Amino acid sequence: MCGIVGYIGNQDSKEILLKGLEKLEYRGYDSAGIAVMNDNGVQVFKEKGRIADLRNIVDEDVMANTGIGHTRWATHGVPSTVNAHPHQSNSGRFTLVHNGVIENYDILKREYLQGVALKSDTDTEIIVQLIDLFVNEGFTAEEAFRKTLTHLKGSYAIALLDAENNETIFVAKNKSPLLVGLGETFNVVASDAMAMLQVTDQYVELMDKEIVIVTKEEVKIQTLNGEEISRDPYTAELDASDIEKGTYPHYMLKEIDEQPLVMRKIIQKYQGDNEELTIDQEIVEAMNNADRIYIIAAGTSYHAGLVGKQFIEKIAEIPVEVHISSEFGYNMPLLSKKPLFIFISQSGETADSRAVLVSVKEMGHKALTITNVPGSTLSREADYTLLLHAGPEIAVASTKAYTAQIAVLSILAEVTAKSRGLELGFNLVQELGIVANAMEVLCDSKEEFEDIASKFLSTTRNAFFIGRGIDFYVGLEGALKLKEISYIQAEGFAGGELKHGTIALIENGTPIIALATQESVNLSIRGNVKEVAARGANPCIISMKGLETEEDSFIIPEVNELLTPLISVIPLQLISYYAALHRECDVDKPRNLAKSVTVE
Ligand code: G6P
Repeated sequence: MCGIVGYIGNQDSKEILLKGLEKLEYRGYDSAGIAVMNDNGVQVFKEKGRIADLRNIVDEDVMANTGIGHTRWATHGVPSTVNAHPHQSNSGRFTLVHNGVIENYDILKREYLQGVALKSDTDTEIIVQLIDLFVNEGFTAEEAFRKTLTHLKGSYAIALLDAENNETIFVAKNKSPLLVGLGETFNVVASDAMAMLQVTDQYVELMDKEIVIVTKEEVKIQTLNGEEISRDPYTAELDASDIEKGTYPHYMLKEIDEQPLVMRKIIQKYQGDNEELTIDQEIVEAMNNADRIYIIAAGTSYHAGLVGKQFIEKIAEIPVEVHISSEFGYNMPLLSKKPLFIFISQSGETADSRAVLVSVKEMGHKALTITNVPGSTLSREADYTLLLHAGPEIAVASTKAYTAQIAVLSILAEVTAKSRGLELGFNLVQELGIVANAMEVLCDSKEEFEDIASKFLSTTRNAFFIGRGIDFYVGLEGALKLKEISYIQAEGFAGGELKHGTIALIENGTPIIALATQESVNLSIRGNVKEVAARGANPCIISMKGLETEEDSFIIPEVNELLTPLISVIPLQLISYYAALHRECDVDKPRNLAKSVTVE
């Protein structure tokens, strides 16, 4: 989703901004722009499409030590050069980039900007025109900025340039993520630390409704009322090489291959001195005090939550509900007396999930966030955090974060179960070790998955994923992966449900990808495959060793039945990857999608 960068210092800012924007590409965007400021004023360059297109139009001869940049994921107004940020006020004095959504932009437009000719269809332009208006009424730039912010309803991360003051970048944040990075002779602004890791690893978090006056020597954080705030910086513990593709053609392939390593890292991070798995005692108590757990998540994280429910109910014996975050806020079920909320989010920034977190905290409930990003909004605002330790996930389609989420949920269930004196019947550390080995086998079988993709998916318009029980949940994730990156219409169904309607869509050759990793439902899922095959479908069965038959297309190594999602998903990730490649799709940056969805 939209990303912001800013630089003020002694170096030429163009290249720093463009490199920063390239690092934000993974979030998903459809246009981009930069504005640079020197003694001659502000120059804006913006373009629909990729950063590479923007690079082509940036005037190499312009030298400027201050600048801001933006990647836009369209919400108000189509993706176009006009709607791309930065936006300028009609006087040309103010130039601004914005992430988020201004919910009352239409009201503000009618109330204050009747006579102003707007250039774009965006909610953002309203902000910059309002600042101009207030300056015309006699306010200083800073006063006008503050006054404008008090009128805004919704979410924003903003960086603003004033052509009459080339020593300052004005910054503000509410709900949308934004950081300020510190250097010796410069300072930067960024939506996430990755963007500016090229120049600094020292960052200061910003809280909602704060504004920051950034100069090259100083970063002054204040409340909207002008009270000064002092906050220590933290070191972003990111390895620059973690965010490089290395020899891989795509981040997605690299991240699929990293999964065995991530499993081992998770085991190591959650092992205590006696090699037993361990979790902060406060979290275990919160689990035990709850009469029901509500898992809230979106997209792939929601699918991991469905698997987590199985673990927590089966291993720790606590009832669990799993909810899509964008629905939960508006359609809240009747809550139990002592609920515990678990937010699962790779980025820790998903606005839909954050909205739920804010309202359950207002209701006085406890919340745990499971996230890949330490210090992310959902992590900061929850009572407790469990980290995924998966390393940065850059490809929009989530892979290693999904398996990391499932592994951490299994550990949470195991540690809680033990604290309740429940017998597991297996050693989770050993079982996760077996999973890591099995993942390696699968990652080494890429050619087979490439063949499956070309046999089943090279020309199809649609595909169905079926499974029963835990396999059904993995099927949902498999379908999501395929549609996200190959644009094949794909749906996941419970094996028995297809015949209640969707079977009408089966035509000669329709691919059905069936998962058969659970002994108790092995015969019934195979029965469901027969039903669709009899109607012309082209079944691709992925089974587990010990349950296989001759008709199966791929047999995954045997692992503990409950943990099969950790490995049965890998064939689905790889099949989707190769299907997308065959169709010449942009694997890492699929159309219309964003990695971190920071608007509701
Ligand atoms: C976006 C991404 C998905 C992701 C979902 C939830 O839609 O494209 O891949 O699963 O957001 O993101 P989160 O960071 O909360 O896990």
